[in-house]
Amino acid sequence: MKVLTHLCLLIGASNAFEFPFAIPFFSAKVPSVQVDSPPLNVTPRIAIIGAGAGGSSAAFWISKAKERFGLDVEVDVYEQSSYIGGRSTVVYPHDDTSLPHIELGASIFVNANKNMWRASEEFNLTRDDFSAEDNDLGVWDGENILLSFAGGWWDTLKLMWRYGVLSPKRAQTIVDRMVAQFQRLYSDKTLNWDNIQDIASSFGWDELVAQTASEYLQSKGITRKYAHEFVEATTRVNYGQNADFIHMLGGAVGLAATGAVGIKGGNFLVFEQFLKRSGANGHLNTTVLSITHHDSSHDWTVETTSGTKRYRGVILAAPYHSSKIQLPSTLASQIKPQPYVHLHVTLLTTNSSTFNPTYFNLPLSSKVPGMMLTTDENRRQGGRGPEFNSISYHGKAGENEWAVKIFSKERVSDEWLERIFPGSVTWVFRKEWDAYPELPPTDSFPPVKLDTGFYYVNAFEPLMSTMETETISARNIVDLLLNERFGSSICGRRLSAHAEEDSGTSAQAPLSSSNTDTDFVYGWDC
Ligand SMILES: Cc1cc2nc3c(=O)[nH]c(=O)nc-3n(C[C@H](O)[C@H](O)[C@H](O)COP(=O)(O)OP(=O)(O)OC[C@H]3O[C@@H](n4cnc5c(N)ncnc54)[C@H](O)[C@@H]3O)c2cc1C
Ligand SMILES: *[C@@H]1O[C@H](CO)[C@@H](O)[C@H](O)[C@H]1NC(C)=O
Ligand SMILES: *[C@@H]1O[C@H](CO)[C@@H](O)[C@H](O)[C@H]1NC(C)=O
Ligand SMILES: *[C@@H]1O[C@H](CO)[C@@H](O)[C@H](O)[C@H]1NC(C)=O
Repeated sequence: MKVLTHLCLLIGASNAFEFPFAIPFFSAKVPSVQVDSPPLNVTPRIAIIGAGAGGSSAAFWISKAKERFGLDVEVDVYEQSSYIGGRSTVVYPHDDTSLPHIELGASIFVNANKNMWRASEEFNLTRDDFSAEDNDLGVWDGENILLSFAGGWWDTLKLMWRYGVLSPKRAQTIVDRMVAQFQRLYSDKTLNWDNIQDIASSFGWDELVAQTASEYLQSKGITRKYAHEFVEATTRVNYGQNADFIHMLGGAVGLAATGAVGIKGGNFLVFEQFLKRSGANGHLNTTVLSITHHDSSHDWTVETTSGTKRYRGVILAAPYHSSKIQLPSTLASQIKPQPYVHLHVTLLTTNSSTFNPTYFNLPLSSKVPGMMLTTDENRRQGGRGPEFNSISYHGKAGENEWAVKIFSKERVSDEWLERIFPGSVTWVFRKEWDAYPELPPTDSFPPVKLDTGFYYVNAFEPLMSTMETETISARNIVDLLLNERFGSSICGRRLSAHAEEDSGTSAQAPLSSSNTDTDFVYGWDC
């Protein structure tokens, strides 16, 4: 089993709430409202805040409704920074754009991520296949390399020797089941949801979200050793969190990584295309300052650094607390503080083709794996812990240079780099991100709908935080908003299994969609 190899992220979740398009709105909490008639001769507008995966795809989904049903709406996308992509952006070694780019944020997606995959096809973007680029993998605990792994039969034996056969097999079963559920997100039978708990429940994920990866795996007969070494190596590289902290759904995302790919030139190219093809007005370098009720109508007033406008709908596609946007206090109080993992990303180039074996307590002649993941188990047992989350070679960066990426909780100093790459560092670039939410077990999530005509894409992140899931969350929200405020939707009224009469059983919707075309992707194909 070539498991871990490249940490990925996939996952998914799904759905939940039924929502036949014919009826007004369905949330128990929010009474249906009368849609105001627009002022004469004025095209109604939607504001999107943020031009990352979430905001750019939201614009794209809206454009599908315009294209298919002639929906008349103008869309403004506000982005405070000078680029499209948000947490998906690239850097060039030595600032030299003739060298291969390095992803500074989100770097991989997988075949099960159907929106990213489909976008790359439709937009003629080339995918780099990272599973072909074979780095040996090691797991370091601060004192020893517990495990090194290149994927051959000998390594498989070593892995089985250390963990037995059952633990890896049982873990794989859990992950496979989760990925199968995730695929329901692309079915036309899956309903829209107006809160995240419902999605998790309808997919049978309550337990996965209510327990840490460590607790959950051990309750399913997987050894502590496997959970705390092997699984933790993936949770630390993917989400900067330990297996005894992160919920199992987050843990499963990291394990669900077969066939990791990225877009040649950078994943942000997908988001640029979403925006470009949407026909929305993009406003870079424009910060949204406040969002308030527009008089007594259900419209909103959005104040930005370049002016103030009235909107019939607003989509917030950035983590609310770090957006610094001022909201009416009744709205603001609905969104509980959400801690994010503060991650240090250090990119460098080196003319050494390998890490210094001495740092890893190995003889000078040893071959050190080119991708070193970590476990905190030694620290939990009272020993030294690792000084970083992961460190890995990322291919050539020129004639006699290689690119390396380091994830860590703390800043890594020049002196520290010198210990790993004595006399061979040729370029360094440091970046701090609020990378992804802390994902402890929970049963409460941020609201998807903040108010009439006002929706929150990043409510999805504490369940799963990936590029793909942000495009899925955006799709759901665009359906909700268009339905509520424009009587429209991305694919028109849904036909389906889920008309009113069986809404009572919707939570047990069949796994297999009646649409047996496995290439079918809801939103693209309708
Ligand atoms: C180091 C790192 C590695 C990762 N690895 C992966 C990976 O391999 N695969 C994967 O799928 N995911 C990965 N992720 C997670 C992934 O990047 C995120 O889940 C996803 O990109 C979030 O997209 P988003 O559009 O919701 O938010 P963002 O990308 O954060 O976009 C929000 C945008 O809103 C803008 N904004 C904020 N406030 C305002 C305001 N007031 N006015 C105007 N604009 C504003 C921001 O500038 C930003 O551009 C990684 C993240 C990091 C940091
Ligand atoms: C945004 O600001 C950056 C840096 O200040 C500048 O280089 C860029 O041209 C600006 N972009 C736009 C679209 O205004
Ligand atoms: C993608 O490339 C193909 C072949 O080069 C071309 O026929 C097609 O029009 C392109 N599609 C888009 C959307 O650019
Ligand atoms: C690597 O780069 C360093 C610093 O630029 C230089 O001193 C050293 O000779 C180089 N080593 C090799 C093997 O090229």
